[in-house]
Amino acid sequence: MATTQIAACQRHCRAEFSRAFASPRPSISRQHTTRQPNVTKRDFLSTTDLTRNELEDMLELAARVKGKRPGQVLAGKTLGLLFFDPSLRTRVSFDVAMGQLGGSCINLSRDDLYELEPTEQAVMDGRAEEHVMDAARTLSRYVDALGVRNVARTGSWAHDRQELLLRSYAKYASVPVINLETCFEHPCQAVADVFTMRERLLSLKGRRLTLAWSVHPEPRPLGPTHSVLTLAAMMGMNVTLAHPLGFEVDDSVLANSKKLADEAGGSVQIVNDLQAGARGADVLYVRSWGSTKYWADAEREAMIKRSLGDWRIDQKLMTTTNDALLMHPLPVRRNVVATDEVLDGPRSVIYEQAANRTHVQKALLMRLLT
Ligand code: CP
Repeated sequence: MATTQIAACQRHCRAEFSRAFASPRPSISRQHTTRQPNVTKRDFLSTTDLTRNELEDMLELAARVKGKRPGQVLAGKTLGLLFFDPSLRTRVSFDVAMGQLGGSCINLSRDDLYELEPTEQAVMDGRAEEHVMDAARTLSRYVDALGVRNVARTGSWAHDRQELLLRSYAKYASVPVINLETCFEHPCQAVADVFTMRERLLSLKGRRLTLAWSVHPEPRPLGPTHSVLTLAAMMGMNVTLAHPLGFEVDDSVLANSKKLADEAGGSVQIVNDLQAGARGADVLYVRSWGSTKYWADAEREAMIKRSLGDWRIDQKLMTTTNDALLMHPLPVRRNVVATDEVLDGPRSVIYEQAANRTHVQKALLMRLLT
């Protein structure tokens, strides 16, 4: 196709996009509520970067792009994906989302990258070969947006909850940065989960969501739990956190979710009993997360978990719910976290959650890049 034809085609697609998908509502906030008040580019680092209106806007746009493809609205745009930890769903769904919008991805894993230094004014005489500031500023000259996944544990919750690598990329990149999961947040997963719940339940206000901890041989990050808790509270759901003592979520996330739930007419409560937590639930969202109390001592956590084998979802537990949807963000340890029977059962929406990642991320990319 001649250059003029391509340009005309792109203009046509953008005009079509404007007619079908533009929204009068505000897009993702340019004012961070987090640690960078001077940043004016749009990042998506945290569920707390979204207002209720912005969340609604993204859910509505995701529903429209799921029903009707918006065309090549990101033609010529490139998303750089930096995976410092493994991923199946996030990696593939972003790649597919960019492809369906006419753009492309560059996918890099830890082994492709130099060891990075995120600390300000560091004297780099250790293992790190490159400072994040140099990597971020360089990548900003190649790509139109960056996604970063880093769920590595240093052994200090006080350190890991700061999401230093992600925040450092956001600080130094001149293009939008997307959180692809940290120990603290997994906002893209949570928006897809809210989208999935709404598809099935239509209205979420007043619905009972139980976020159920489950046993797992490894200490897992808290990101998906924190992010789903925050957005479910924002939507006015009545959220029950069901976990054993010692597996409390971060205080700041709990306090914020209670405030959001209050404002939206919902609630957040905690129970330390799985059966009590599951009773009457409309949605049973199961996953394991590590103990922040024993973040520095994985062996101690493993020892405690030896007596928590009953924290597992099976059909008997499901019958005590209000015919609940069964959710899990995957990957899942089958017959440890939940039985095959419930994961493959009629109320399981685990693959819908995974599929919806593509549509929600198309909406996000359109809001960040158009
Ligand atoms: N749920 C999720 O983020 O899956 P991946 O770890 O496979 O990306």
